Amino acid sequence: MSVAHGIKKLGVIGAGQMGLGIAYVAAVKAKVPVLLYDRSKDQVSKGLALMDKLLDKDVKKGKIESAEAAKEARERIVVLGEEEGIKGFRDVDMCVEAASENFSLKAKLFASMAAELRPDAILASNTSSISITKIAAAAVPQGLNPSSEEGKASASRVVGLHFFNPVPVMPLVELISGLQTSSGTLDRARAFAVACGKEVTTSKDVPGFVSNALLMPFLNEAIMCLEKGVATRDDIDKTLRLGMGHPMGPLTLADFIGLDTCLAIQRTLYEGTGDSKYRPSVLLERMVDAGWLGKKSGKGFYDYTS
Ligand code: 3HC
Repeated sequence: MSVAHGIKKLGVIGAGQMGLGIAYVAAVKAKVPVLLYDRSKDQVSKGLALMDKLLDKDVKKGKIESAEAAKEARERIVVLGEEEGIKGFRDVDMCVEAASENFSLKAKLFASMAAELRPDAILASNTSSISITKIAAAAVPQGLNPSSEEGKASASRVVGLHFFNPVPVMPLVELISGLQTSSGTLDRARAFAVACGKEVTTSKDVPGFVSNALLMPFLNEAIMCLEKGVATRDDIDKTLRLGMGHPMGPLTLADFIGLDTCLAIQRTLYEGTGDSKYRPSVLLERMVDAGWLGKKSGKGFYDYTS
């Protein structure tokens, strides 16, 4: 029996490539009003410009039925002001956090979300690798025993809802349940992902889940190949594109995801398992030290300035 998601209004934290994409599929596919919040005004304007471009392109391609439907979708997205912050999410039924891949930042956001949102609202994280159990623990108000009924209820509404980049194009959402997640939360989150036009897989709460436990060591290994001089950048990418039919070579894909994000995930895998096979490549560390973060910064393994 299919479960109704019951999401009449969605909150999205983060207007980067993931948050923007989530707002897009929620407004266009699930047709729900979206409140979007990012502490950076610059990020919001960049995100909205991309949103307008995508809507326009999808009307031209016939993926959205009419310019009127695109206008309605765009009007469903409202940006929250800096002064309102997370308080502005007080009447949403679900909030998806799509901030950077950093546990202390996410812990702070989940503590605020738990304090400001309705007690029945779902708190979802688009984390790529961080434990949902740990994030859910951060949603238990300080001073409250996590094993009390109230503590358990607060954490039971936290779930992992992991989208893939570019969100409007990639058809998958990975659903992750923490130790505390209730089956009701899981069912509604799944139903919402389906309403956004996605297929859903489930993963246990292990570092990187299924997707990044497989993808990141592959990307890291490609970077190590480059570091060791096994082959040139172009030949590494060409091997995977032409030899294996991948849409992008691994170095292009790492640039596309963001090298800071790749490093953060690889560190979570390494620290979370203690297994040396996940050690991040030194070259990846150095690229991030240099501020060469891939496509978003204009330079990564490739140059994006021209
Ligand atoms: N946002 C929205 N749409 C985008 C986009 C973006 N950033 N980039 C491309 N697209 C759309 C294009 O507009 C186009 O749409 P159309 O079919 O309606 O015209 C469609 O994608 C195909 O784009 P192009 O024809 O320009 O280029 P390609 O055929 O090379 O496809 C791609 C681009 C879909 C990005 C393809 O290269 C691809 O699938 N790459 C692999 C992406 C991937 O592996 N993503 C997962 C990353 S891992 C992740 O996200 C998890 C996280 O936790 C790290």
